[in-house]
Amino acid sequence: MRRSFALVRVPQHVAIIMDGNGRWAQRRGLPRAAGHRAGLSAVRMSIERCMTLGIGVLTIFAFSTENWRRPQAEVGLLMGLFLEALDAEIDELAAQGVCIRFVGARGHLAPALVTRMSEAEVRTQANSRLTLVIAMAYGGRHDIVDAAKRLAIEVKAGTLHPELIDEARFNEQLALHGLPDPDLLIRTGGDHRISNFLLWNLAYTELWFSDRLWPEFSADDFATAVAAFGERQRRYGQTSAQVSDPSC
Ligand code: FPP
Repeated sequence: MRRSFALVRVPQHVAIIMDGNGRWAQRRGLPRAAGHRAGLSAVRMSIERCMTLGIGVLTIFAFSTENWRRPQAEVGLLMGLFLEALDAEIDELAAQGVCIRFVGARGHLAPALVTRMSEAEVRTQANSRLTLVIAMAYGGRHDIVDAAKRLAIEVKAGTLHPELIDEARFNEQLALHGLPDPDLLIRTGGDHRISNFLLWNLAYTELWFSDRLWPEFSADDFATAVAAFGERQRRYGQTSAQVSDPSC
């Protein structure tokens, strides 16, 4: 069989739903917070893998708008861990050429955390080896509603004609503006759903689900997901024949 799509194709942008921290901890008789802490190693591994493989953007779902519904104690521990991890990792990430960007609603986050997030963004904004997008208090529906609101405000002010609103214009208002859509979404933890992650941006993303719990997601697992992506034929609505031979 002739296959004209490249066999070794690396995604430009990988997005990850890091699920399974709580179960990982519970299976070991540990508090759920221990699972979140253990998940940090898999975050470090993913950043390292992206830089090694030449993947330009990594977006990780650290905390969803729905995660605010978790017991207050767990939310508090998670927020403490985010602050601690940012303080511990920022020097190394900056030195490695990582540009950090946070997306999500910062309104309910602790002021100290918001300050550190902004400082990390400013400090790393000129870096270009890897863009690390951390979705914090992020929700895909909220992102879309926010974009619609901003456009509505422009229309109301008379600075934008509704006829000029197209997909590109809408995209510019979304949290990931300026970045390519994710090529590959990895979700660990065994569930097969999007959970209100980048709803708009995932329209044509290749999905990869793993039964592994996030803290045990390894460099080999990451490589397997990327290799599987390289084998997929992306058709964007066209037929397989058209993609294989664009002159069709
Ligand atoms: C989902 O697992 C995971 C989270 C809600 C938090 C993810 C956070 C980390 C991996 C910590 C480090 C991240 C950064 C960016 C510093 P779950 O608790 O829903 O697991 P479960 O489904 O087994 O209960």
